[in-house]
Amino acid sequence: MKKDYERLFEPFTFKSGATLDNRILMAPMTTNSSFENGMFTTDEHLYYERRGGEVGAIVTACAHIKENGKFAASPSISSDLYIESLSKLAKRIQATGSKAILQIFHVGRMGSASTLRGIQPVSASAVPSLRDHAETPRELSLEEIEELVQDFGEATRRAIQAGFDGVEVHGANTYLIQQFFSPHSNRREDYWGGSLEKRMNFPVEVVNAVQQSIKKYADKPFIFGYRISPEEIEEPGITLDDTLALVNKLKMFNIDYFHISLGNIFGSSLRNKADKTPILKIIQDEIGGDVPIIGVGNVITPDDAIQAMDEIGVPLIAIGRELIIDPDWLLKVQEGNESDISKVLHSNDREDLRIPDAMWEYMQSRPGWVPILK
Ligand SMILES: Cc1cc2nc3c(=O)[nH]c(=O)nc-3n(C[C@H](O)[C@H](O)[C@H](O)COP(=O)(O)O)c2cc1C
Repeated sequence: MKKDYERLFEPFTFKSGATLDNRILMAPMTTNSSFENGMFTTDEHLYYERRGGEVGAIVTACAHIKENGKFAASPSISSDLYIESLSKLAKRIQATGSKAILQIFHVGRMGSASTLRGIQPVSASAVPSLRDHAETPRELSLEEIEELVQDFGEATRRAIQAGFDGVEVHGANTYLIQQFFSPHSNRREDYWGGSLEKRMNFPVEVVNAVQQSIKKYADKPFIFGYRISPEEIEEPGITLDDTLALVNKLKMFNIDYFHISLGNIFGSSLRNKADKTPILKIIQDEIGGDVPIIGVGNVITPDDAIQAMDEIGVPLIAIGRELIIDPDWLLKVQEGNESDISKVLHSNDREDLRIPDAMWEYMQSRPGWVPILK
């Protein structure tokens, strides 16, 4: 192994006491392949197993905490019925040697009546997103919001009982938690919205519920991560200042890491084009001393990872698409074979790569998203 890459293989211990064997995590990626009822399929077991072993942790695809918060084929953690299915997956991942972190989420206004069996999607307010064919969600009642907060706590209990090493709360990528924080999707004038402070209340209450469950049910170190998208392009939309205020607030809750969701780990502000500083560096400088930051976004080579650690200062790196393409990425780095890392998916390798059919189709639905050679 190249001397410079040794840093990628240093263990990392979180505040909770849990230790990752190295600095690379697999980023959460929806496989679109769970059973209709929310149980994990064998295809998913094989997909994760193929990618476990070398990476410090696998963060799973997002699992919905309530039935009205699902994707078409997302896994469910919405009732105790799922604990057995969740437990099987946790064991399969852990048997490879990697830690298993379950991502938990609610889709909010990004859902659609067709995947919700005719039910209207819900959100903070009845404001559709700006994407094509967006459906107008129904505004959640106060009782429903309180129930959802508890649902995140209950999902955490189930993840603990299923034997996962941690949960990552999905507060990013425009889903429900972000919708409460966003002035675009949250137009409420009650406890849950109005001012920046009030828009933080849903993320804060969710984090509090997750932390309470960890305190109550975990009998060994349990990793608590939180994923954030630092900005929105909508007007009004989440600004970097909003995000810095949010992470400063959330840091009180024993969060083990913030995972900053970016398309490019070195990317600068989408809203303030004059500022060329990587947005991740601004966040790292603001909060990285208190809460470790995971950087993600277009990390293709070990040099990309090292550059991010050096120039931005983040201690941990998540890799998404590149681990779909080459599950042996870290092994190749360790063995000094980084020049053999594949950078394009070849249809012929689909079997060996254990990519579920529905995931393959999903990736192709957005041309250019994942490089595929036919
Ligand atoms: C097929 C696919 C599915 C994804 N699903 C999720 C998801 O369930 N939850 C999430 O937070 N991010 C999801 N993402 C985003 C990734 O976690 C990651 O942030 C993004 O792909 C950028 O990292 P990369 O360039 O290393 O792929 C997904 C990305 C891809 C390609």
